[in-house]
Amino acid sequence: MTGRTLPAGARIRSLGHAGYEIEHAGVRLLIDPWFHPAFLGAWFPFPDNRPLLDHVAAGSYDLLYLSHAHEDHFDERALALLDRDATTVVVPRFRSKSVVRRLEGLGFRSVVALGHKEVHEAAPGFVLTMLLDTSHKEDSGLIVDLDGFRFLDLNDCNTPLSELPTDVDVLSAQYSGAMWYPNCYAYPDEVQRRKTAEIRGDLYDTLVRKVRLTGASTYLPAAGPPCFLDPELERFNDRSATIFPVWDDLAADFAADCPEVGTVCLEPGDVLTADGVEESADPERGRWRTEPEAYLAAYRARREDEWSAYHEEPFQPVGAAELDAYFAKLTNWNKRFLADYQRDVRLVADGSTWAVRLGRVGGVLEEDPVDAGYTIHVPPRALRAIVEGRIGWEEALLSLRLSLHRDPDVFDLTLMSLLRYGNQPAQTMQMVRERDDAAAGETIERCGYAFQRFCPHAGEDLAHADIEGDVVECPRHHWKWDLKTGECVAGGTVPLRVDPSERVG
Ligand code: FES
Repeated sequence: MTGRTLPAGARIRSLGHAGYEIEHAGVRLLIDPWFHPAFLGAWFPFPDNRPLLDHVAAGSYDLLYLSHAHEDHFDERALALLDRDATTVVVPRFRSKSVVRRLEGLGFRSVVALGHKEVHEAAPGFVLTMLLDTSHKEDSGLIVDLDGFRFLDLNDCNTPLSELPTDVDVLSAQYSGAMWYPNCYAYPDEVQRRKTAEIRGDLYDTLVRKVRLTGASTYLPAAGPPCFLDPELERFNDRSATIFPVWDDLAADFAADCPEVGTVCLEPGDVLTADGVEESADPERGRWRTEPEAYLAAYRARREDEWSAYHEEPFQPVGAAELDAYFAKLTNWNKRFLADYQRDVRLVADGSTWAVRLGRVGGVLEEDPVDAGYTIHVPPRALRAIVEGRIGWEEALLSLRLSLHRDPDVFDLTLMSLLRYGNQPAQTMQMVRERDDAAAGETIERCGYAFQRFCPHAGEDLAHADIEGDVVECPRHHWKWDLKTGECVAGGTVPLRVDPSERVG
């Protein structure tokens, strides 16, 4: 490691994925412990971290930080093993309040909800600062200050680049994907390859920006990729053909692009100290790299009862009346968000096909429209869980058990936001506010153009955008807009507010 070193006695133990255990100044902090399958039994921690579960259950933690509600960060089965009387939980203060409610339901008595940049001092020399994704998305990161040594856990959070701290020692952040796009879309092979490469490039570009902006002297690859033990999902373990690379695939590029930054790869159980890395004594440590196929086969066999549970759970197929009632409720919850939006979607579940009209006047249609635009193939078990409210579309999509097709191949922000966030209307209401802001919010001037400051997709600060000629490109998901007209020319369809009167020669 270069830069400041950890204080003597401080320990940062990786628990796998985005999980950490940090000890310093008599305080023990647990972060995002994830051990059990997530998203309809699809995701498993990679490498296997289950040998650490007993250690965590016996851990006597003073503090627990949960970054957001996704199951690979909020593992209810693991949380139920903790001492819920003695552990103070630090969480982001999201609009939806769902994280706090769930923790209270699990029996945690002390929950501290922090807003963006709010601070919690656990002890002198052990200070936490919350960082939110300040858009409609509910995600967070945490600065852990250990007597001046600053560890930034960004997991998979996209705090706007302009809101990131600039004096970080160690940055832990995602480099691999955690989305269904493009790998769950029905594209011809060549198109799939191109789009996958684009997303991998975007993820890498975002990582390099975060590393440079935070001034991190050390980077810890974290928060992915998971692995998929259900044989039905085997194709997503292909590290070269998906958006789920392992760090070895990127390490050489990163060393070339960020030569001043050290990289420390922690396996589950490894501990970072002032003197370096103490390696875990797990005999399986590193085997995923030397014998990847045998490792995955053995892991799959060990967890068969867990991944097969998804297939064995009895369920009743969903009928048209139930589906109609579900979408009526969803659209009712999101009336202001939908405004005058209308879109027909074809839902296919096993042998059944439904045409669903989304919008204020909607519901399951008698006839399949000729032009549905989007077709979503959803396993009947997943549809049952969605209709009963046990999971949302976000979790179902993250399971990678759905497949999608769209024609034209254009991202529909309203549709995907309705599905992803519609069961938490606090998020779609925030999108309504973001739309209003887009019309009348902050403007910045760059390269002679005046345009809205925050990206109309998911709120990135366009002060950090690249501008080439008349085109501005958002640094987060790389949508592009024509600065003369505001038209979105790549990525989506949402225009950017530009002020032509501000154009200076
Ligand atoms: S935040 Fe997604 S393209 Fe800007």
